[in-house]
Amino acid sequence: MMNQVSACVKIIREKSLGLYPQIGLILGSGLSSFADQVNISSEISFNELPGFPQAGVGGHVGKLLLGRVGNTKVAILQGRSHYYEEGKADTMAVAIKTLKEIGCDSLVLTNAAGSIKKGAKPGDIMLITDHINMTGVSPLFGSKGNDRFVDMCEAYDPDLSERMRKAANKNGVNLNEGVYAWWSGPQFETPAEIRALKILGADAVGMSTVPEVIVARHAKIPLCALSVLTNYAAGISDTPLSHEQTIRVAKLAEKSIKDILNSYLNSFSNDNN
Ligand code: HPA
Repeated sequence: MMNQVSACVKIIREKSLGLYPQIGLILGSGLSSFADQVNISSEISFNELPGFPQAGVGGHVGKLLLGRVGNTKVAILQGRSHYYEEGKADTMAVAIKTLKEIGCDSLVLTNAAGSIKKGAKPGDIMLITDHINMTGVSPLFGSKGNDRFVDMCEAYDPDLSERMRKAANKNGVNLNEGVYAWWSGPQFETPAEIRALKILGADAVGMSTVPEVIVARHAKIPLCALSVLTNYAAGISDTPLSHEQTIRVAKLAEKSIKDILNSYLNSFSNDNN
């Protein structure tokens, strides 16, 4: 894996014209248009980067963008791959480790998720404060050494999360907070499964992000994460669940997400140059 990371770093360095990103951002389903906010200096297809996710499901683009939001230098993954695609939980490991190696010292992860809480409605945004891994798998299966026993307390960095709250506040965006449950997918959950998740303490459910958080913790990259709630989870409302709905409702939240991420990223502009 580290060979692939080194190869990716070399390719990116050649194409990035001296831009060393500070923050890595992963854009989930229906959110890739945030890239419009970025002053892009280079663009690299995932297909050119060994170990990066290759063409995934609808709503995912598959490009690495390097550029600036305000004065903050960012690397943006437009699209991700999922455990359910090939049954590999470490499918994003090369991409995340590459972000670290090219200079990112923190990450922002975004996704689409189903809401388990009546008060958090489709179109709302949720700051992830903790997670429950419902899959029983780990992207660290097979890794060696004592550092594989990763401490998962405060996996969602309290300081970065506080910055995200301030960014939401500044834009008058109501930010829900809660626990995200990782469901393997690709099938959605049953109503009984959602009732069980609720009892376990989950506020939202989705099919991504958690393995990325585990990889990032292992690689010692602090992060914060946002879910766009695209639907009420199974059995909570009568609306049938579909990927099309996920994409459509994620688009409705686009403006709030853009505002929050813009302010969040800009809040680092004074820290550097
Ligand atoms: N369940 C799982 N993943 C999802 C959902 C959901 O209800 N909505 C968007 N992604």
